[in-house]
Amino acid sequence: MNDLVFKDNFVFGCATAAYQIEGAVNEGGRGKTIWDDFSHTPGKIFNNENGDIACDSYHRYKEDIAILKELGFSAYRFSFAWSRIFPNGVKEINREGVDYYHSLLEELLKNNITPYVTLYHWDLPSALGDWTNRECAYAFRDYAKFCFKEYSSEVKNWITLNEPFCSSIVSHYQGRHAPGHQDLNEAITSAHHLNLAHGLAVQEFRKLNIEGKIGITINTIYPQAASKLKEDVLIADFAKACQTDIFISPIFKGEYPSQIESMLKLKIPIEKDDLNNINQKIDFIGMNYYSESLVKYDENSPFKMKEVNSWQKTTEMGWSIVPKGLLRFLRTLNNDTDNIDIYITENGMACNDILTSDMRVHDTDRIEYFRQHLLYCKKAIEEKIPLKGYFAWSLLDNFEWAYGYSKRFGITYVDYQNNCKRIIKDSGYFLRDVMLSLI
Ligand code: NOJ
Repeated sequence: MNDLVFKDNFVFGCATAAYQIEGAVNEGGRGKTIWDDFSHTPGKIFNNENGDIACDSYHRYKEDIAILKELGFSAYRFSFAWSRIFPNGVKEINREGVDYYHSLLEELLKNNITPYVTLYHWDLPSALGDWTNRECAYAFRDYAKFCFKEYSSEVKNWITLNEPFCSSIVSHYQGRHAPGHQDLNEAITSAHHLNLAHGLAVQEFRKLNIEGKIGITINTIYPQAASKLKEDVLIADFAKACQTDIFISPIFKGEYPSQIESMLKLKIPIEKDDLNNINQKIDFIGMNYYSESLVKYDENSPFKMKEVNSWQKTTEMGWSIVPKGLLRFLRTLNNDTDNIDIYITENGMACNDILTSDMRVHDTDRIEYFRQHLLYCKKAIEEKIPLKGYFAWSLLDNFEWAYGYSKRFGITYVDYQNNCKRIIKDSGYFLRDVMLSLI
């Protein structure tokens, strides 16, 4: 049966991130972040756009929560902007920022929507430099500890980091994200410091003995080998090691995959006790899934691999649509994470959405994308993979990092030309009907 019927306790939510939706960058005592700096550097972002206004969600969070409520979502994953709470990353607390998130949480709880809070979605306070600075890990620990204490009665689900692959490799090696560096050593150093930050925060959480669960969100990258040739199979395995297991293995096994140092010819700056500090039990793992790729051995690239062409239709991001990859990824992740609970913390597609004159968005491609991926979620549950929830990316069209506002991922259209007016797209109504078991 191809019915999309899920049990009542399956969590359905939408996800967003602070810098992508809040705007109000100079309000409420917020400190500057590396994304403010990066987006204001000419040439870094499509059209030189930035998150200064974004969706103006800082002011319009009640309206956004009303959309979640109207569509029937039971959960909302969003991130705290670290620099609203600690404008300089450490020490001095900004009460206005702290209270802002209390108001947001209060509004969610009033509407019976469970908050899933991401503590770090890439907006590092500028005062901390960047993740090559080991001090960031300790600053994050203190920020996290403050949040656990401050919000423990409202928040029961914590996500330490979002996609550390992006805040290390994409930011420090590929140069596409803030701070936009291109240095392999920096990338691997940052990855290690992010892992340490995560582990130290989990330890603080356990020490406080507060009610709730804690996990991390990874953009699992498990490319398939583009042929059965030995070198391609080995390089696909290496891709998994240095793009995903570099985060999963230290958390679950207390070690890094050995190929990283040998293949990349560098040293991970591990200090005494680091691996123990990272190897902390977590309660769930978040997986962001968008696509699956195929790789081939390539002598000329530092990672010794290149992505090859595919036959599938692609999204506006140019990403192949591979719903079955979601199931393959879930199987692999489940295997590598000791059968702990899994949430899809992001899944969705960018489309060329058109707002009609009668104020509708008929995003049929996105509906099909959700339908196919949700069918594989069901299949995973039938296979007894402990998949507990699904968050659509995203509640709103928003600032898509280096792509600015040119890519729309929302189930709600944001009319940037018209005071950021929100218009629920057909895909939003589709997900409502999934939650009502009508599909
Ligand atoms: C993953 C990131 O967490 C999110 O910020 C981004 O917008 C989506 N992928 C789409 O690229």
